[in-house]
Amino acid sequence: MKQDNTFITKAWETLEQSIIYYYDRPLGTVAACDRDTPALNYDQCFVRDFVPAALLFLIKGKTEIVRNFLTYTLKLQIKERQLDFLEPRRGLMPASFKVIHQQDEQYLQADFGDHAIGRVTPVDSCLWWMFLLRAYIKATEEYSLAHSPEMQKGIRLIMELCLSARFDMYPTLLVPDGACMIDRRMGINGHPLEIQALFYTSLRCAKELLIDNLENEKTHLAINNRLSPLLGHIRYHYWLDLERLNVIYRYKSEEYGENVLNQFNIYPESIPYAELSEWLPEDGGYLVGNLGPSQLDCRFFSLGNLMAIISSLASEEQANAILNTIERKWSDLIGFMPMKICFPALKDRDWHLLTGCDPKNRPWSYHNGGNWPALLWQLVGACLKNNRPNIGRKALNIATKSLVKDEWAEYYDGKNGRLVGKEARKYQIWTIASYLLAEELMADSQYLKWISYEEF
Ligand code: GLC
Repeated sequence: MKQDNTFITKAWETLEQSIIYYYDRPLGTVAACDRDTPALNYDQCFVRDFVPAALLFLIKGKTEIVRNFLTYTLKLQIKERQLDFLEPRRGLMPASFKVIHQQDEQYLQADFGDHAIGRVTPVDSCLWWMFLLRAYIKATEEYSLAHSPEMQKGIRLIMELCLSARFDMYPTLLVPDGACMIDRRMGINGHPLEIQALFYTSLRCAKELLIDNLENEKTHLAINNRLSPLLGHIRYHYWLDLERLNVIYRYKSEEYGENVLNQFNIYPESIPYAELSEWLPEDGGYLVGNLGPSQLDCRFFSLGNLMAIISSLASEEQANAILNTIERKWSDLIGFMPMKICFPALKDRDWHLLTGCDPKNRPWSYHNGGNWPALLWQLVGACLKNNRPNIGRKALNIATKSLVKDEWAEYYDGKNGRLVGKEARKYQIWTIASYLLAEELMADSQYLKWISYEEF
C-alpha cells in the first residue's frame, strides 16, 4: 500500500513531542500525548512502552536517548537486599518513572507498582531493559557500556532475582497476576507465557553480555543450567496442536511418580475440547498461556507467542505452525486491527472470577480480548524471522487504514477489533512507535538481528 508521507511525518512529530528530558537530556517517551483525556499516569515513561520507540531511535541513529534511558533506569534499579515487605526486591526495575521538577532541581520518581492500580509488580521491566541493552549494543557496538561495572552489576542483579531458588521447582518463572503488559488481574498468575518468553530472552542476553570473569562465574553457571530445561519445558509442555490435543484428551489423571505422562495432573475436563478441536488449524499450533498444577490455560496470548518466535524459544517448526494459526485464524487474531492481545475473551463466570469483574476488561475489551496495535512490531518481527513477510505486510496494510483516522488509538474493542477501545487513549506512543518500527523492519530486515536470536 502506498503511504502518505504527511501521515508518517506527523507520526514522527508526535513521537518527538513525546520525548521527556532530564536536565536537558532526552531520557524516554511519555505513554500518551492525548490532550483530551486526563493524563493520570500516561505522562510517565513506561519501560515496556519505550522499547519500540527506542528501537526506532536506534534505527535512525538517535542513540543518545536510548543510552540515557538504559543508564538512568539502571540507577532506579533496587540495589540493596530488602527484608522489609514494603520495599521492592533487589534487582527489580520500575514499571514507569517521571521527571519531577522542584525549584531548580530535578529528580526521577519511579513506580514499582506501589502507585499502580492493583499494586501490580512490573516483572517484565527488568527483562525488557535487558532486551533493549542488547539491541543497543548490537546497533552501536559500544560493548564498553555493557561491560562497565555498573551494567555488569545490573545484569547480575536481574539474573539473581530471576534465578534464585524459590518455592516451586519449575524452570519457568513464578509471578503474580498482572506482572507484564497485561497489568491488571486476568487470571495469568503462575507461569504466564509472556514472562517466560521474556525471561528466556533475558537469559540469552545475559549469556552474551556478561563478561567471563570470576565475579560472573556463578551467574554464568546458573544461566547455563537454566537455558536448556526452560527451552525444553516450554517447547514440550506449553505446545498445543491437534496431535497434542489428542494426547491430552486421553490423559489419565491422579498419577504418581516421576515418569508419569500427565505430569501436571491436567484434568481433561478442564480443556475446552469442543472449541479447540474446531478452532485449531490442521497445520497450526501455538504455545498455551500458562501451565501449573492441574492448570493448562489454553488461551492464545500474542505477545508471548511472538516473542517466543523472535527469540527462538519456539522451534522453527513451532514458529511456522504459530504463523499458520495467525494466517488461518485471521479474523479472530488480526481482524480489523492487528493484533488481538489474547484469544478468546474470558466471559461470564470466568470473567467474574478471574478478573474480579473488572469493567475495563469486559469480554472483548482492553486486555480481555482487545486488539492492540502496539503488538505490530512483534508480529512483523516474528513473520520476518520465519521468512513470511506477506503476513506482516497484510497486517500492516490493515493497520494503515485506521490508525490515522483513529488518531493512533491505544487499543480496540470487539470480537473483530472494529471499535476504538472504550477508554483508549489517542496518540498512544507505543502505537505510533510500533507502527513506524514495523515499517522500518519491513523495509530492511537486517535490523532483525538486533532483536532476534538464533537457535540455542
Ligand atoms: C496500560 C497497559 C500497559 C502499558 C500502560 C501504558 O496499563 O496495560 O501495558 O504499559 O498502559 O501505556
